Amino acid sequence: MRANPTLTSDTNNPFARIADDVLDLVGQTPMVRLNRYLDVPDVNLIAKVESMNPGGSAKDRPARFMIEQALADGRLCVGDTVVESSSGNMGIGLAQTCAVHGLKFICVVDPNAQAQNVAIIRALGGKIELVDQPIEGDFLAARLERVAALLEASPDCFWPNQYANTDNPASHEAGTIAEIDAAMQGQIDYLFVACSSTGTARGCRDYLRRMGRETKVVAVDAQGSTLFEGAAGPRKISGMGAGRIPDLAKGQIFDDLVRVADVTCVAGCRRAVAREGFLVGGSGGGVLEAVRSMQDTLRGKTVVAIIHDSGSRYLSTIFDPEWVERELGNSDAEVQRLAGLDTPAS
Ligand SMILES: Cc1ncc(COP(=O)(O)O)c(C=O)c1O
Repeated sequence: MRANPTLTSDTNNPFARIADDVLDLVGQTPMVRLNRYLDVPDVNLIAKVESMNPGGSAKDRPARFMIEQALADGRLCVGDTVVESSSGNMGIGLAQTCAVHGLKFICVVDPNAQAQNVAIIRALGGKIELVDQPIEGDFLAARLERVAALLEASPDCFWPNQYANTDNPASHEAGTIAEIDAAMQGQIDYLFVACSSTGTARGCRDYLRRMGRETKVVAVDAQGSTLFEGAAGPRKISGMGAGRIPDLAKGQIFDDLVRVADVTCVAGCRRAVAREGFLVGGSGGGVLEAVRSMQDTLRGKTVVAIIHDSGSRYLSTIFDPEWVERELGNSDAEVQRLAGLDTPAS
């Protein structure tokens, strides 16, 4: 039981400030200590809660930064159209950014896109272009071909290209990790980051190196992802991993690498809810399980885990036992066991 629960009215609270617009709410996300997640008591584990961005994920940061940089240097003008291939958080972040800046947004998706994300992008004013025929079995190639066709058809189109745009890592270097470093007063032994474009991990690592910190940056990737010389294979958890190596990821080296299976991510999500009351998305579950897999070497250390989004975006997948059984082949009992929830919490 918590002693003296209180509802305070604190005038130093950053949330007491009135933001200028929704994009002004991007960043300054909270951090929370996870006391109950691990099996050992002496790891100081802290999560950066990126679902508290207004669009619901860490991707609000690069979406805003890539667009505002392009507006600032004239690559993009008010009234132009932004085109991007995304079926998830980046699409939502871009739709939000474009609405605020008076830009049109076309989001190129394929049939694997989650219906809820597509609905959110539409609700934020984005137009959806559905690509229904893969090129030699590859939907990404088909989506990129459609992006190229849209760019060619209209001179007023701009493609942020999150997988090659260095404004993507720069947004995390200026925001995500600078906030973490300030909150932790530079005292972070390990930072765990899920990877897809590697924008988050790159930006964080570059900041920490520039500041002379000795923090070890652990990249968390999906089994079946081709990042970091991984072998391609089936993957069902959106947000983490890549089917082909993005330009941003080429030659990138981090201090350590942990690959997590899809079911491990699911187990992490279940455990975060059961132990902490924390509804995290699939990559967040994977990151927390990556920490747990190394917990014996992390004893006595301070560890920060970036949690990119919320489990509320995955209610019909990760949090639906029927989906898990059908798509991953794991029963609920197996997930509970992997999550360490079949025995009473110590
Ligand atoms: C939920 C989630 N987690 C992790 C990532 C990985 O972030 P990055 O592309 O910066 O490597 C993404 C990126 O789309 C994501 O949506």
